[in-house]
Amino acid sequence: MKPATTMAALMLGLAVMTGCGGADEPAGDTSPEEIRASEENADQVDGENGSAASQASSEEGATEEGSSQFSELPAPYTSADYAAGKRVFKQCSTCHTLDEGGPAVMGPNLYGVFGREAGAREGFGYSKALQEADFTWTPDKLDEWLTNPRKFLPGNRMSFSGVRRPDDRTAVIAYIMAETGYEPS
Ligand code: HEC
Repeated sequence: MKPATTMAALMLGLAVMTGCGGADEPAGDTSPEEIRASEENADQVDGENGSAASQASSEEGATEEGSSQFSELPAPYTSADYAAGKRVFKQCSTCHTLDEGGPAVMGPNLYGVFGREAGAREGFGYSKALQEADFTWTPDKLDEWLTNPRKFLPGNRMSFSGVRRPDDRTAVIAYIMAETGYEPS
């Protein structure tokens, strides 16, 4: 009795499986679901990528917006980051003002510094080194000065170690150009 019942059950089972499941279930149902699931995953991945990309492009946008204030400047300053320049200048602002007619703090006011003879801001007591220095401030000279003030002009009294990163220098120089009425000569 038992083996026969088992066989019957098995055969019934098989019959049920082939009858009902056969064509429809495994192939019919599961696959589309799997496809749907993977499509959803793909959507999610796309979505994440999309938002990262749009975030990146909006950051780019912000940078471009900042740089629009440098649009009149020569390369590489024209593409510098205004916000970064402003941030780097905080290091200088303990000693320097940029506004026209601004006061000397520890260092001279820097309005109109480009195109001016080094050590020539009236009313400021420069070191001998700067008084005797014989050059005119250009963006390139300022870049050299800020790379290593002491090495650039030994004996000067600017107690500042410099701005190490080149892009920080470019940004702060562009910022000073934009804020001090720089005009290409
Ligand atoms: C601790 C104060 C201090 C800081 C910080 C400082 N400076 Fe100066 N700076 C001075 C002094 C003092 C002088 C004059 C040096 C001399 O007479 O030898 C000077 C001179 C200069 C000059 C020459 C000006 C001229 O008329 O010839 C420039 C340009 C300059 N600084 C730019 C900067 C910039 C840009 C920064 C920031 C990245 C900076 N300084 C940071 C104190 C400072």
